Amino acid sequence: MNKRHVIELSPSGKSFEAGDELLLEAMLASGLAVPFSCRRGACGSCKVVVAEGAYRAKRLAPGAPQPSYPLAANEMLLCQSHACGDMRLHIPGWSLDTPALVVAAQVHSKRALGPDVIELVLMPETPVAVRAGQYLKFHLADGDTRCFSIANLPDEDDGRLVFQIRRVSGGYFSEGILGGLAVGERLHVEGPFGACTWQDDEAAPVVLFATGTGYAGIKPILLTALKRDADVTLYWGGAQSADFYDSAFLDHLMLEHPRFRWHPVRSSEGRVQEVAMSHGHQWEQAQVYACGNGAMLGQVRIHCLEAGLPSHRFIAEAFVASGRSSAGAVSLSFDPVWEKVGPRYSLDGMLAAREKSIRALAAIASQLKVGMTTGEALEMAARQLQAMGASHTWHPTYIRFGADTVRPPREGIDRQRRLRANDIAVVDLGPVWDGYEGDYGDTFVFGDGPLHQACTTALHEVFDETRQAWLRGLTGRELYDFAEQSAASKGWRLARNLAGHRLADFPHALFESKELADLEIPPSEMAWVLEIQLCHPTEPVGGFFEDMLMLQG
Ligand SMILES: Cc1cc2nc3c(=O)[nH]c(=O)nc-3n(C[C@H](O)[C@H](O)[C@H](O)COP(=O)(O)OP(=O)(O)OC[C@H]3O[C@@H](n4cnc5c(N)ncnc54)[C@H](O)[C@@H]3O)c2cc1C
Ligand code: FES
Repeated sequence: MNKRHVIELSPSGKSFEAGDELLLEAMLASGLAVPFSCRRGACGSCKVVVAEGAYRAKRLAPGAPQPSYPLAANEMLLCQSHACGDMRLHIPGWSLDTPALVVAAQVHSKRALGPDVIELVLMPETPVAVRAGQYLKFHLADGDTRCFSIANLPDEDDGRLVFQIRRVSGGYFSEGILGGLAVGERLHVEGPFGACTWQDDEAAPVVLFATGTGYAGIKPILLTALKRDADVTLYWGGAQSADFYDSAFLDHLMLEHPRFRWHPVRSSEGRVQEVAMSHGHQWEQAQVYACGNGAMLGQVRIHCLEAGLPSHRFIAEAFVASGRSSAGAVSLSFDPVWEKVGPRYSLDGMLAAREKSIRALAAIASQLKVGMTTGEALEMAARQLQAMGASHTWHPTYIRFGADTVRPPREGIDRQRRLRANDIAVVDLGPVWDGYEGDYGDTFVFGDGPLHQACTTALHEVFDETRQAWLRGLTGRELYDFAEQSAASKGWRLARNLAGHRLADFPHALFESKELADLEIPPSEMAWVLEIQLCHPTEPVGGFFEDMLMLQG
């Protein structure tokens, strides 16, 4: 008889039953949200910590590859294991409530912070797990939403969510609804979203920029930064004194934290970036966060990078109009069969995951050093992803040097291969950020080998031409036929076994696992990753680039 065991998930206390089936299958069947992706023990998405109970490994068919994901002694893969009795498991970085993102919240209080800014405090009916710097979407009666940053650390505030909302002239929410909201009234909010979040770099001095209510996004990052012993400086831009509506609190913080300074910058007197540049920060080591109007963000970025800030250490959120009807909003219509998405799917989430993956790739590439082994590079990449807040990877990180760049991802590589002074390296990341899948990979040349340079040039040309072809309405299959011809015309071979795939709110494996190269319809924007791997026809030199299919501004 198939004996059923009770599997408890701590700390939630939720449980499901499992018998002879794999634990992953039992958990999926129970309807609980499960992190998973490859189902063959390679990606590590389904890794859990075993707090109690015995289990046995899945029996593999003769000749089948062993699960390759490395585990600590107390860890287990749900997709590779059966329970032998009752168990207690913990899934690090995963909330079982993840897909139920819309929560009801009551108005707790409301007060004016200045002539144009209202503080709205909500008490959610279920706690919202938030990372410093994230925002929520307010659901409106007409089905539209508005984004507002969480201006506090809810964990340290009895779960309350604080918002600082500027009245926008003609604003449906800020001028219309907000004024009439009474204490006790119920709203629905969705989230959290956003990649402009605390990066947890213990050592770096932190420089913060805000304009107007951009301060709402920066304040929780400031509060988090002040918990460490490092320099923290805030530049807050506004038109008049009343715009610095939290100045008394900030003055008080300066007294409490000798390594904190803040500078109100009136627009009549200068720009935040100009004042910051005159203060002689150590930009090479700094971590910069900026929230507010887009023009300020652009200028701050240019100035900071020119002053020596590494590009991946600049993190920003633009406080633009956030209603669906606002210019720039994208309406998506996905194919109901091949392009299913989960309940969390949102453009913001997908864009934030992409942006964060790009930053992670830059950070990892900047730490690749000549002489390093592939194994050392993979360990460095895992540390970097973890430090940036990736909860999982939905596929393992692939790093390949030299001759390994022509191998397909699943093929084994030489972990002892060292990066040479004249070399080519591929990095392919698949992190999960705040419940959204990121996927970004690129190729990097070390030294000035002409064939290496030619490879990356051809790679990006093939990618760009194929993306242009997508805009003409080609199907997934036609796109890869096109890419093959484009590669051949440049003297390179397209490796068709890397054939593009879906991307969504994690785990997309729950919805669809078809490859882009097999898709007989034109792929929609923001649902597919176009992967291009080129190999030289005779030399062991290859390159790889991938990105989400999307219109580029
Ligand atoms: C990630 C994110 C976080 C945000 N956090 C905050 C926050 O914490 N506090 C806050 O006050 N705002 C924040 N915003 C901006 C806020 O979401 C928008 O201003 C929102 O559209 C206001 O809604 P509304 O219904 O009052 O105005 P709407 O009805 O959306 O807009 C009315 C008119 O004003 C224009 N408009 C609205 N907002 C802006 C803007 N910011 N810039 C230029 N034109 C605009 C619209 O295009 C429209 O013509 C954030 C935006 C984003 C994207
Ligand atoms: S290791 Fe289990 S889903 Fe990938």
